[in-house]
Amino acid sequence: MTGKKIIVAVSGSIAAYKSLLLVRLLKKSGCEVKVIMSPAACHFVAPLSFATLSENEVLVDFFKDDTWNNHVALGLWADIIIVAPASANTIAKAANGICDNMLLATYLSAKCPVVFCPAMDLDMYKHPSTVQNLNKLQSFGNQIIYAKYGELASGLIGEGRLAEPEEILNYLQQMLETSHELAGKKFLITAGPTYEAIDPVRFIGNHSSGKMGLALAETIANKGGLVELVIGPNQLDINHIGISVTNCMSAEEMYTACQQLHPMVDVCIFAAAVADYRPSEVAPQKIKKNDSEFHLTLVKNRDIAYELGIQKRPHQIHVGFALETENEEINGLKKLEKKNFDFLVLNSLNDPGAGFKLDTNKIKIIETSGKVNSFDLKSKTEVAKDIVEFLISHLIEK
Ligand code: CTP
Repeated sequence: MTGKKIIVAVSGSIAAYKSLLLVRLLKKSGCEVKVIMSPAACHFVAPLSFATLSENEVLVDFFKDDTWNNHVALGLWADIIIVAPASANTIAKAANGICDNMLLATYLSAKCPVVFCPAMDLDMYKHPSTVQNLNKLQSFGNQIIYAKYGELASGLIGEGRLAEPEEILNYLQQMLETSHELAGKKFLITAGPTYEAIDPVRFIGNHSSGKMGLALAETIANKGGLVELVIGPNQLDINHIGISVTNCMSAEEMYTACQQLHPMVDVCIFAAAVADYRPSEVAPQKIKKNDSEFHLTLVKNRDIAYELGIQKRPHQIHVGFALETENEEINGLKKLEKKNFDFLVLNSLNDPGAGFKLDTNKIKIIETSGKVNSFDLKSKTEVAKDIVEFLISHLIEK
């Protein structure tokens, strides 16, 4: 982030103190930082603290002594404006073009991306007007780092906490590091497990964490690709501008979501561990343990990769995943042919460090010709980079 010019726009919220840390982190990352505060923000944190940390004068008013603070020049100077915290009042004014302070005037004159980080009490955050204003800001092309769940200054617990400074920094890093290698390309990625309901409280699932699918989605989005991530139940923190998420529960829900998105994308990556079977019936009430034995009849789920493989268009690339425990390469190649994949990523449970829940993985990539490319044990992020590099070479060939 060295040399990047960031405006931190602070509005009136108790969370303003967190922006001091954000400024510090941005400075440490090598950014040039200028801070603009709304008049209300100055009641929460002294401008002097921001001036000291940013090593720049803090702007609050249009006029200082006899000089006019040029908001237009400031708006053009910045690579990114981050409004953190963004109070309900500032969000409402920005969404409606109101321009009664330096912060808002700079926002209106800006040519660079603007990111709003809301922070307020939970009822204000949930209020339809705030929701509408945030949607409006987003429709203008602004980005939102949504407020987090937790304890609020009012003592209430709920959504409304400003995202942590580290998370905001991470988000800005992703924005700035985005290259344009995959710009204009659309990707569908399936990830995570599926849960197949037995009754209202039980399900059949598996240990997939969705980490590999998310690592792929982030790697692609960092290269400018637009990702539709269709993901089963997961514990992941997914927050990337280039990734839109469709959450689903069962294989059938995942299939329906994929079916809708498939015609719109250039590449599909099937990284989900989809349950092959589901209970033939879902009991409407919790099943009681009356009998000494309990039999469950399972029926086959639709194979998403296979079905979409039949519909694959000439310009589309399909990438499959497989986890085999024996005859890996032979079974892998059979799967690749059956499901019409362009290549298949093979994980082996026999390799220490590879597989579910771990942060590392060891893969082989099998091509349609049967050629096998082996990779070392790496973090899932590094593995994702290898797969995406391989994919890019395929995209160039097509
Ligand atoms: N897959 C899918 N839908 C399913 C099952 C699998 O989209 N219902 C996809 C997976 O996401 C993966 C590939 O197909 O990309 C292979 O999955 P795998 O479970 O290894 O294959 P199966 O066909 O289920 O074979 P097996 O009998 O080995 O389980």
